[in-house]
Amino acid sequence: MSAVALLFAALLAQGGAVAASEEQAVDAAVEILAAGGNAVDAAIALHFALAVSYPVAGNLGGGGFLLYRDSSGASWFVDFRETAPAAAHRDLYRTAAGGVDEDASTLGWRAVAVPGAVPGLAEAHRRWGSLPWAALLAPAERLARAGFVVDEELSSDLAAEAEALLADPLARASFFRDDGTPLPPGALCRQPALAATLARIGAEGAAALRAGPIVDGILAASRAGGGILAAEDFLDYRPELRAAHRFHWRGLEVLAAPPPSSGGIFLHQTLLALDAFPLARWGRQDPRAQLLIADAAAHAFADRNRWLGDPAGFDHDAAALVAPARIAARRARLAPGHATPPEALGAAAERRPESPQTTHFSLVDARGAAVSCTTTLNGAFGAKVMAPGGFLMNNEMDDFAAVPGEPNQFGLVQGGYNAIVPGRRPLSSMSPVILVRDGAVEAVLGSPGGPTILSTVLHVLLNRWVFGLEPAAAVAAPRAHRQDRPATLRLEDGLLSPAARVQLRRLGQEWSGRDSIGDVNAVFRDGDGWLPLCDPRASGGARTAAAVSGRR
Ligand code: DON
Repeated sequence: MSAVALLFAALLAQGGAVAASEEQAVDAAVEILAAGGNAVDAAIALHFALAVSYPVAGNLGGGGFLLYRDSSGASWFVDFRETAPAAAHRDLYRTAAGGVDEDASTLGWRAVAVPGAVPGLAEAHRRWGSLPWAALLAPAERLARAGFVVDEELSSDLAAEAEALLADPLARASFFRDDGTPLPPGALCRQPALAATLARIGAEGAAALRAGPIVDGILAASRAGGGILAAEDFLDYRPELRAAHRFHWRGLEVLAAPPPSSGGIFLHQTLLALDAFPLARWGRQDPRAQLLIADAAAHAFADRNRWLGDPAGFDHDAAALVAPARIAARRARLAPGHATPPEALGAAAERRPESPQTTHFSLVDARGAAVSCTTTLNGAFGAKVMAPGGFLMNNEMDDFAAVPGEPNQFGLVQGGYNAIVPGRRPLSSMSPVILVRDGAVEAVLGSPGGPTILSTVLHVLLNRWVFGLEPAAAVAAPRAHRQDRPATLRLEDGLLSPAARVQLRRLGQEWSGRDSIGDVNAVFRDGDGWLPLCDPRASGGARTAAAVSGRR
């Protein structure tokens, strides 16, 4: 055999790895990899399958970020974040009394931003896909038409959101029995309207979401439900191709999310500021280590909320937020002996309860190309309204600062750079990352969790590359979350002993127990192969799925 043929045979024998939150969707990605598809092909199949079998977060009516590194080492960030409709304005959710109408920005058609998922994935396919687009939609269409088996997690998620979902006749018909009870575990969920939509998207590509029956259906339902979406919103929507936010840390190149995500800047600030301290020597169960991590995060959240939003609206250079001199100054303000109070961070107000839904998947193909993708409807099942095409719509409008200075559903108090402006993207915490060492992918990961996404990714990176945990332990180890406001540190069980927690309080850091932060899906390099990992937190790990279709 010639050298070229040998290389080709070796590539065929190698495989890839996938980690995502729903097994039937992982099967779709594996099917595409086995058919010779590349990482982008498999990501597209996986995304659309999640829109069928993981409706709590998987979507056609939402948006997200796809970070891609090809086998030659080039990287891109596809921003398919939703945008504010043309009819939106700064005071869309302001009440006559000057407060915020919280329901209007989270529930029902008024909360819906212009979805970006279909145009975004079509753009990724146009640039990097290798198999025909329609072939990538086929597994999802099959799942929708033949039906997928409901698992316990979906059934209980439906029960938790039943009141709002039952109010929408289409959502009710898709996911509930006639008596109004959610489809139970083991039931077959068939979605014929969604199957027809997927077939049309398979045939027409992004055009299907620019105009035509799918859009007409959305617009009619939006009008009937008091929404503000208009035909021009869909004609005008464009995914943005951006450069990844890149920096070097501990011999790794970190590829992360640029604005309108806060992920890259947050990780850059925190990881580099923390590098000056002997965290590894102290160990992760030392209160000084956790205090510093929390404090670094609090400062980075204050910057996030003040300075970030859609970069189209910046009148400042966001790169200044990670300038070496600024990070050095940040380092000087961190001290293991005391927590920074919120007043010193320049933020205000308390958090409201958090909804736990978004989804991340990580994927590597036979050639070592990687996709790290986080996608969302924002809240669980989004705005809890379904388009006639059989898919749920996002409530991403709540990620804007509905009233700058007032908290959103995650308690994030954000500034004028994240105010509602027509056509703009709301600031996000979604943080897909790819880590590279010596020119090769070392790890791919991300998580859902609103602002806790940022802490989750930070903790996994510290666990692996500062505290030296093996990949599975780095994902499983208990984590913590602190944002600028409130100042309370949320601790998962198992992080810090009771004595260490008492000590933490003495150092001025209030804390509260919290069971679960984040839901990581990751792929780590493992010798000559790949190790796909799903977070054991997700329903005890029972329903998450990981698959390897061969060796690297
Ligand atoms: O983009 C954001 O930051 C939010 N829309 C993410 C929401 C989320 O992660 C919900 N929880 N899992």
